[in-house]
Amino acid sequence: TEFISANDLASLMDASVNDVIKVCLSMGMFVSINQRLDAEAITVIADEFGYDVEFLSAEEEETEMEIVDDPEDLRDRAPIVTIMGHVDHGKTSLLDYIRDASVAKGEAGGITQHIGAYEVKTQSGKPVTFLDTPGHEAFTAMRARGAKVTDIAIIVVAADDSVMPQTKEAINHAQAAGVPIVIALNKIDKPGANPDKVREELSGINILVEEWGGKYQSQEVSAKTGVGIDDLLEKVLLEAELLELKANPDRNAVGTVIEASLDKGRGYVTTVLVQTGTLQVGDIVLAGPHYGRVKAMTDHRGKKMKKAGPATPVQVLGLTGAPQAGDKIVVMDTERDARELATQRQQLAREQSMRTKKHITLDEIGRRL
Ligand code: GTP
Ligand code: MG
Repeated sequence: TEFISANDLASLMDASVNDVIKVCLSMGMFVSINQRLDAEAITVIADEFGYDVEFLSAEEEETEMEIVDDPEDLRDRAPIVTIMGHVDHGKTSLLDYIRDASVAKGEAGGITQHIGAYEVKTQSGKPVTFLDTPGHEAFTAMRARGAKVTDIAIIVVAADDSVMPQTKEAINHAQAAGVPIVIALNKIDKPGANPDKVREELSGINILVEEWGGKYQSQEVSAKTGVGIDDLLEKVLLEAELLELKANPDRNAVGTVIEASLDKGRGYVTTVLVQTGTLQVGDIVLAGPHYGRVKAMTDHRGKKMKKAGPATPVQVLGLTGAPQAGDKIVVMDTERDARELATQRQQLAREQSMRTKKHITLDEIGRRL
Protein backbone atom coordinates (compact mmCIF):
# COMPACT_ATOMS: atom_id res chain seq x y z
CA THR A 1 0.00 0.00 0.00
CA GLU A 2 1.07 3.56 -0.74
CA PHE A 3 0.58 6.15 1.93
CA ILE A 4 1.35 9.74 0.97
CA SER A 5 2.82 11.68 -1.91
CA ALA A 6 6.42 12.91 -2.06
CA ASN A 7 5.03 16.40 -1.67
CA ASP A 8 3.10 15.57 1.52
CA LEU A 9 6.04 13.70 2.96
CA ALA A 10 8.19 16.77 2.34
CA SER A 11 5.78 19.03 4.20
CA LEU A 12 5.50 16.55 7.07
CA MET A 13 9.28 16.73 7.42
CA ASP A 14 9.33 20.48 6.90
CA ALA A 15 11.57 19.99 3.87
CA SER A 16 11.19 21.17 0.30
CA VAL A 17 9.85 18.65 -2.17
CA ASN A 18 12.83 19.33 -4.43
CA ASP A 19 15.18 18.18 -1.68
CA VAL A 20 13.10 15.04 -1.23
CA ILE A 21 13.25 14.32 -4.95
CA LYS A 22 17.02 14.98 -4.99
CA VAL A 23 17.59 12.59 -2.09
CA CYS A 24 15.49 10.00 -3.87
CA LEU A 25 17.53 10.44 -7.03
CA SER A 26 20.76 10.04 -5.11
CA MET A 27 19.43 6.69 -3.93
CA GLY A 28 18.42 5.69 -7.42
CA MET A 29 14.68 6.33 -6.99
CA PHE A 30 12.90 8.41 -9.59
CA VAL A 31 10.05 10.12 -7.81
CA SER A 32 7.65 12.80 -9.02
CA ILE A 33 6.01 15.41 -6.79
CA ASN A 34 2.59 13.78 -6.58
CA GLN A 35 3.77 10.22 -6.66
CA ARG A 36 2.53 8.20 -3.73
CA LEU A 37 5.20 6.37 -1.81
CA ASP A 38 5.11 2.98 -0.17
CA ALA A 39 6.20 2.25 3.39
CA GLU A 40 9.70 1.19 2.42
CA ALA A 41 10.39 4.31 0.39
CA ILE A 42 8.96 6.55 3.11
CA THR A 43 11.12 4.90 5.77
CA VAL A 44 14.29 5.23 3.70
CA ILE A 45 13.64 8.86 2.70
CA ALA A 46 12.62 9.89 6.20
CA ASP A 47 15.76 8.30 7.58
CA GLU A 48 17.85 10.47 5.23
CA PHE A 49 16.14 13.50 6.73
CA GLY A 50 16.66 12.23 10.27
CA TYR A 51 13.10 11.06 10.95
CA ASP A 52 11.72 7.82 12.30
CA VAL A 53 8.38 6.81 10.85
CA GLU A 54 5.62 5.06 12.73
CA PHE A 55 2.93 3.45 10.63
CA LEU A 56 -0.49 3.07 12.18
CA SER A 57 -2.57 0.18 10.98
CA ALA A 58 -6.04 1.02 9.66
CA GLU A 59 -7.45 -0.36 12.87
CA GLU A 60 -5.32 1.87 15.03
CA GLU A 61 -6.29 4.88 12.98
CA GLU A 62 -9.91 3.99 13.63
CA THR A 63 -9.44 3.88 17.39
CA GLU A 64 -7.38 7.01 17.25
CA MET A 65 -10.32 8.79 15.68
CA GLU A 66 -12.80 7.39 18.12
CA ILE A 67 -14.52 10.06 20.13
CA VAL A 68 -14.24 9.87 23.85
CA ASP A 69 -16.64 12.14 25.66
CA ASP A 70 -16.69 13.07 29.28
CA PRO A 71 -19.81 11.31 30.67
CA GLU A 72 -20.86 14.66 32.14
CA ASP A 73 -21.18 16.13 28.65
CA LEU A 74 -23.58 13.46 27.43
CA ARG A 75 -27.25 14.25 26.83
CA ASP A 76 -30.16 12.01 25.81
CA ARG A 77 -30.68 11.73 22.10
CA ALA A 78 -33.53 10.49 19.91
CA PRO A 79 -33.44 6.85 18.76
CA ILE A 80 -32.75 6.27 15.07
CA VAL A 81 -35.19 3.76 13.64
CA THR A 82 -35.29 1.76 10.40
CA ILE A 83 -38.37 -0.02 9.07
CA MET A 84 -37.80 -3.36 7.36
CA GLY A 85 -39.94 -6.19 6.10
CA HIS A 86 -41.14 -8.20 3.13
CA VAL A 87 -42.26 -6.64 -0.16
CA ASP A 88 -45.72 -5.04 0.02
CA HIS A 89 -46.10 -5.58 3.76
CA GLY A 90 -46.43 -1.81 4.20
CA LYS A 91 -43.03 -0.28 5.02
CA THR A 92 -43.52 2.80 2.86
CA SER A 93 -47.14 3.22 3.97
CA LEU A 94 -46.12 3.09 7.61
CA LEU A 95 -43.33 5.63 7.14
CA ASP A 96 -45.65 7.89 5.17
CA TYR A 97 -48.38 7.71 7.79
CA ILE A 98 -45.96 8.54 10.61
CA ARG A 99 -44.42 11.45 8.72
CA ASP A 100 -47.69 12.89 7.46
CA ALA A 101 -49.30 12.65 10.88
CA SER A 102 -46.38 14.55 12.36
CA VAL A 103 -46.48 17.18 9.63
CA ALA A 104 -50.23 17.58 10.10
CA LYS A 105 -49.73 18.03 13.84
CA GLY A 106 -47.00 20.61 13.34
CA GLU A 107 -47.30 24.15 12.07
CA ALA A 108 -48.90 24.49 8.64
CA GLY A 109 -47.14 25.59 5.49
CA GLY A 110 -44.47 22.95 5.31
CA ILE A 111 -44.26 20.85 2.20
CA THR A 112 -42.98 17.40 2.97
CA GLN A 113 -40.01 16.52 0.88
CA HIS A 114 -38.19 13.28 0.62
CA ILE A 115 -34.81 13.67 2.25
CA GLY A 116 -34.10 10.09 3.31
CA ALA A 117 -34.59 10.68 6.99
CA TYR A 118 -36.90 12.65 9.24
CA GLU A 119 -37.62 13.32 12.85
CA VAL A 120 -41.08 13.06 14.39
CA LYS A 121 -42.48 14.03 17.76
CA THR A 122 -44.37 11.20 19.40
CA GLN A 123 -47.54 11.68 21.44
CA SER A 124 -45.48 11.82 24.63
CA GLY A 125 -43.43 14.63 23.10
CA LYS A 126 -40.27 12.61 22.66
CA PRO A 127 -38.57 12.66 19.27
CA VAL A 128 -37.88 9.63 17.10
CA THR A 129 -35.73 9.78 13.97
CA PHE A 130 -36.71 7.56 11.05
CA LEU A 131 -34.37 6.51 8.30
CA ASP A 132 -36.40 6.51 5.13
CA THR A 133 -34.11 4.30 3.11
CA PRO A 134 -34.96 0.76 2.09
CA GLY A 135 -34.09 -1.15 5.22
CA HIS A 136 -31.78 -3.57 3.52
CA GLU A 137 -29.74 -0.79 2.00
CA ALA A 138 -29.51 0.95 5.31
CA PHE A 139 -27.99 -2.21 6.70
CA THR A 140 -25.90 -3.51 3.82
CA ALA A 141 -24.64 -0.46 1.89
CA MET A 142 -23.98 1.50 5.04
CA ARG A 143 -22.52 -1.35 6.99
CA ALA A 144 -20.22 -2.05 4.06
CA ARG A 145 -18.73 1.38 4.79
CA GLY A 146 -18.57 0.62 8.47
CA ALA A 147 -21.40 2.97 9.30
CA LYS A 148 -23.77 1.91 12.01
CA VAL A 149 -26.66 4.28 12.15
CA THR A 150 -29.72 2.32 13.25
CA ASP A 151 -30.57 1.92 16.93
CA ILE A 152 -33.85 0.05 16.59
CA ALA A 153 -35.50 -1.90 13.75
CA ILE A 154 -39.24 -2.10 13.21
CA ILE A 155 -40.01 -5.33 11.38
CA VAL A 156 -43.27 -5.05 9.50
CA VAL A 157 -45.31 -8.18 8.84
CA ALA A 158 -48.66 -7.95 7.04
CA ALA A 159 -51.21 -9.59 9.30
CA ASP A 160 -53.14 -10.87 6.28
CA ASP A 161 -50.02 -12.59 4.98
CA SER A 162 -47.22 -14.64 6.53
CA VAL A 163 -43.65 -14.45 7.73
CA MET A 164 -41.88 -14.35 4.37
CA PRO A 165 -38.26 -14.83 3.24
CA GLN A 166 -37.52 -11.11 3.43
CA THR A 167 -39.08 -10.94 6.88
CA LYS A 168 -36.57 -13.50 8.06
CA GLU A 169 -33.76 -11.74 6.23
CA ALA A 170 -34.65 -8.44 7.86
CA ILE A 171 -34.69 -10.09 11.29
CA ASN A 172 -31.31 -11.66 10.57
CA HIS A 173 -29.86 -8.32 9.53
CA ALA A 174 -31.07 -6.63 12.68
CA GLN A 175 -29.86 -9.43 14.92
CA ALA A 176 -26.46 -9.57 13.22
CA ALA A 177 -26.09 -5.84 13.87
CA GLY A 178 -27.22 -6.27 17.48
CA VAL A 179 -30.16 -3.93 16.92
CA PRO A 180 -33.33 -4.50 19.00
CA ILE A 181 -36.50 -5.40 17.11
CA VAL A 182 -40.08 -4.23 17.50
CA ILE A 183 -42.66 -6.15 15.47
CA ALA A 184 -45.43 -4.23 13.66
CA LEU A 185 -48.33 -6.48 12.65
CA ASN A 186 -49.65 -4.31 9.84
CA LYS A 187 -52.87 -4.24 7.78
CA ILE A 188 -54.90 -5.11 10.86
CA ASP A 189 -57.84 -3.28 9.23
CA LYS A 190 -58.12 -5.94 6.55
CA PRO A 191 -60.89 -8.51 6.91
CA GLY A 192 -58.44 -11.32 6.27
CA ALA A 193 -56.02 -10.19 8.97
CA ASN A 194 -54.94 -12.95 11.33
CA PRO A 195 -52.26 -11.56 13.65
CA ASP A 196 -52.23 -14.71 15.81
CA LYS A 197 -51.17 -16.76 12.84
CA VAL A 198 -48.25 -14.37 12.27
CA ARG A 199 -47.31 -14.48 15.99
CA GLU A 200 -47.29 -18.25 15.73
CA GLU A 201 -45.05 -18.17 12.66
CA LEU A 202 -42.73 -15.74 14.37
CA SER A 203 -42.40 -18.04 17.37
CA GLY A 204 -41.37 -20.70 14.88
CA ILE A 205 -38.27 -18.64 14.05
CA ASN A 206 -37.52 -17.88 17.71
CA ILE A 207 -39.21 -14.50 17.78
CA LEU A 208 -41.59 -14.97 20.69
CA VAL A 209 -43.65 -11.84 21.31
CA GLU A 210 -44.27 -10.41 24.79
CA GLU A 211 -48.00 -11.26 24.84
CA TRP A 212 -46.95 -14.86 24.53
CA GLY A 213 -44.31 -14.65 27.20
CA GLY A 214 -41.42 -13.76 24.91
CA LYS A 215 -39.10 -10.78 24.90
CA TYR A 216 -40.12 -9.10 21.66
CA GLN A 217 -42.54 -6.20 21.71
CA SER A 218 -45.18 -6.27 19.01
CA GLN A 219 -48.04 -4.01 18.04
CA GLU A 220 -51.04 -4.45 15.75
CA VAL A 221 -51.23 -1.46 13.42
CA SER A 222 -52.83 -0.19 10.26
CA ALA A 223 -50.83 2.12 8.04
CA LYS A 224 -54.14 2.84 6.32
CA THR A 225 -56.28 3.94 9.27
CA GLY A 226 -53.46 4.79 11.66
CA VAL A 227 -54.75 2.55 14.42
CA GLY A 228 -52.03 1.36 16.78
CA ILE A 229 -49.29 3.59 15.39
CA ASP A 230 -49.00 5.80 18.47
CA ASP A 231 -48.67 2.65 20.59
CA LEU A 232 -46.04 1.31 18.22
CA LEU A 233 -44.01 4.50 18.65
CA GLU A 234 -44.32 4.29 22.44
CA LYS A 235 -42.95 0.74 22.29
CA VAL A 236 -40.06 1.97 20.20
CA LEU A 237 -39.39 4.62 22.85
CA LEU A 238 -39.48 1.96 25.57
CA GLU A 239 -36.85 0.04 23.68
CA ALA A 240 -34.84 3.24 23.27
CA GLU A 241 -34.91 3.90 27.02
CA LEU A 242 -33.23 0.56 27.64
CA LEU A 243 -30.46 1.55 25.23
CA GLU A 244 -29.76 4.82 27.14
CA LEU A 245 -28.85 6.60 23.93
CA LYS A 246 -26.66 9.59 24.61
CA ALA A 247 -24.39 11.96 22.73
CA ASN A 248 -22.42 15.12 23.39
CA PRO A 249 -24.03 18.07 21.60
CA ASP A 250 -21.20 20.46 22.50
CA ARG A 251 -18.52 19.34 20.11
CA ASN A 252 -17.68 19.37 16.42
CA ALA A 253 -20.28 17.33 14.60
CA VAL A 254 -19.70 13.82 13.27
CA GLY A 255 -22.41 12.22 11.18
CA THR A 256 -23.23 9.83 8.38
CA VAL A 257 -24.31 10.65 4.84
CA ILE A 258 -27.74 9.19 4.13
CA GLU A 259 -28.02 10.28 0.52
CA ALA A 260 -26.70 12.98 -1.80
CA SER A 261 -27.65 14.38 -5.17
CA LEU A 262 -27.04 17.28 -7.52
CA ASP A 263 -29.82 19.84 -7.65
CA LYS A 264 -29.82 22.22 -10.62
CA GLY A 265 -30.57 25.27 -8.57
CA ARG A 266 -28.96 24.49 -5.24
CA GLY A 267 -25.87 22.47 -6.14
CA TYR A 268 -24.99 19.36 -4.19
CA VAL A 269 -27.62 18.46 -1.63
CA THR A 270 -26.51 16.03 1.06
CA THR A 271 -28.76 14.46 3.66
CA VAL A 272 -26.78 13.99 6.82
CA LEU A 273 -27.65 12.27 10.04
CA VAL A 274 -25.75 14.05 12.79
CA GLN A 275 -24.65 11.46 15.33
CA THR A 276 -22.69 13.45 17.82
CA GLY A 277 -21.92 17.11 18.26
CA THR A 278 -23.81 19.93 16.60
CA LEU A 279 -23.54 20.78 12.92
CA GLN A 280 -23.80 24.50 12.21
CA VAL A 281 -24.15 26.73 9.20
CA GLY A 282 -20.65 27.93 8.34
CA ASP A 283 -18.93 24.71 9.45
CA ILE A 284 -16.27 23.28 7.18
CA VAL A 285 -16.98 19.62 6.53
CA LEU A 286 -15.25 16.65 4.99
CA ALA A 287 -17.49 13.84 3.68
CA GLY A 288 -15.80 10.94 1.94
CA PRO A 289 -13.82 12.43 -0.95
CA HIS A 290 -15.70 15.76 -0.83
CA TYR A 291 -15.61 18.84 1.33
CA GLY A 292 -17.23 22.23 1.63
CA ARG A 293 -18.62 24.91 3.88
CA VAL A 294 -22.18 24.40 5.11
CA LYS A 295 -24.07 27.17 3.31
CA ALA A 296 -27.54 26.29 4.51
CA MET A 297 -29.39 23.50 6.30
CA THR A 298 -33.05 22.48 6.10
CA ASP A 299 -35.21 19.84 7.75
CA HIS A 300 -37.54 17.48 5.89
CA ARG A 301 -40.19 20.18 5.70
CA GLY A 302 -37.83 22.59 4.03
CA LYS A 303 -37.54 24.68 7.20
CA LYS A 304 -34.20 26.48 7.53
CA MET A 305 -31.99 25.42 10.41
CA LYS A 306 -28.87 27.04 11.83
CA LYS A 307 -27.89 24.10 14.02
CA ALA A 308 -28.50 20.36 14.05
CA GLY A 309 -27.71 18.34 17.16
CA PRO A 310 -27.30 14.58 17.71
CA ALA A 311 -29.77 12.26 15.93
CA THR A 312 -31.06 15.12 13.77
CA PRO A 313 -31.37 14.55 10.03
CA VAL A 314 -30.63 17.61 7.89
CA GLN A 315 -30.20 18.54 4.28
CA VAL A 316 -26.88 20.28 3.83
CA LEU A 317 -25.98 22.65 0.99
CA GLY A 318 -22.42 23.59 0.16
CA LEU A 319 -20.45 20.43 -0.56
CA THR A 320 -18.24 20.30 -3.64
CA GLY A 321 -19.52 16.87 -4.69
CA ALA A 322 -21.91 14.07 -3.78
CA PRO A 323 -20.56 11.63 -1.18
CA GLN A 324 -21.97 8.12 -0.95
CA ALA A 325 -24.54 6.84 1.51
CA GLY A 326 -22.68 5.62 4.55
CA ASP A 327 -19.74 8.00 4.16
CA LYS A 328 -18.73 9.66 7.39
CA ILE A 329 -19.02 13.43 7.56
CA VAL A 330 -16.82 15.35 9.98
CA VAL A 331 -16.27 18.99 10.83
CA MET A 332 -12.75 20.22 10.11
CA ASP A 333 -10.95 23.21 11.57
CA THR A 334 -9.64 24.69 8.34
CA GLU A 335 -10.77 24.63 4.74
CA ARG A 336 -7.20 23.85 3.72
CA ASP A 337 -7.12 20.62 5.73
CA ALA A 338 -10.53 19.61 4.42
CA ARG A 339 -9.52 20.24 0.83
CA GLU A 340 -6.24 18.41 1.23
CA LEU A 341 -7.82 15.31 2.71
CA ALA A 342 -10.59 15.33 0.11
CA THR A 343 -8.02 15.57 -2.68
CA GLN A 344 -5.99 12.74 -1.17
CA ARG A 345 -9.05 10.54 -1.00
CA GLN A 346 -10.00 11.35 -4.59
CA GLN A 347 -6.52 10.51 -5.73
CA LEU A 348 -6.59 7.22 -3.85
CA ALA A 349 -9.94 6.34 -5.39
CA ARG A 350 -8.64 7.18 -8.87
CA GLU A 351 -5.55 5.08 -8.39
CA GLN A 352 -7.63 2.21 -7.09
CA SER A 353 -10.00 2.36 -10.05
CA MET A 354 -7.04 2.51 -12.43
CA ARG A 355 -5.57 -0.56 -10.83
CA THR A 356 -8.88 -2.35 -11.23
CA LYS A 357 -9.01 -1.37 -14.88
CA LYS A 358 -5.49 -2.62 -15.45
CA HIS A 359 -6.39 -5.86 -13.82
CA ILE A 360 -9.32 -6.31 -16.16
CA THR A 361 -7.15 -5.60 -19.20
CA LEU A 362 -4.56 -8.14 -18.18
CA ASP A 363 -7.29 -10.62 -17.59
CA GLU A 364 -8.68 -9.98 -21.06
CA ILE A 365 -5.28 -10.51 -22.59
CA GLY A 366 -4.93 -13.73 -20.66
CA ARG A 367 -8.21 -14.95 -22.01
CA ARG A 368 -7.26 -14.12 -25.56
CA LEU A 369 -3.99 -16.02 -25.34
P1 GTP B 1 -42.15 -2.41 -1.12
O1 GTP B 1 -41.55 -1.06 -0.98
O2 GTP B 1 -42.56 -2.74 -2.53
O3 GTP B 1 -41.35 -3.51 -0.52
O4 GTP B 1 -43.55 -2.41 -0.32
P2 GTP B 1 -43.86 -1.77 1.08
O5 GTP B 1 -43.54 -2.71 2.16
O6 GTP B 1 -43.30 -0.41 1.15
O7 GTP B 1 -45.44 -1.70 1.04
P3 GTP B 1 -46.35 -0.46 0.69
O8 GTP B 1 -46.35 0.51 1.79
O9 GTP B 1 -46.04 0.02 -0.66
O10 GTP B 1 -47.77 -1.16 0.72
C1 GTP B 1 -48.13 -2.17 -0.19
C2 GTP B 1 -49.62 -2.14 -0.41
O11 GTP B 1 -50.29 -2.43 0.79
C3 GTP B 1 -50.12 -0.77 -0.86
O12 GTP B 1 -51.14 -0.97 -1.81
C4 GTP B 1 -50.69 -0.16 0.40
O13 GTP B 1 -51.73 0.74 0.15
C5 GTP B 1 -51.19 -1.38 1.14
N1 GTP B 1 -51.17 -1.20 2.59
C6 GTP B 1 -50.11 -0.89 3.35
N2 GTP B 1 -50.44 -0.84 4.64
C7 GTP B 1 -51.76 -1.13 4.71
C8 GTP B 1 -52.69 -1.24 5.78
O14 GTP B 1 -52.38 -1.07 6.97
N3 GTP B 1 -53.97 -1.57 5.45
C9 GTP B 1 -54.35 -1.78 4.18
N4 GTP B 1 -55.63 -2.10 3.97
N5 GTP B 1 -53.51 -1.69 3.15
C10 GTP B 1 -52.22 -1.36 3.40
MG1 MG C 1 -41.88 0.60 -0.14
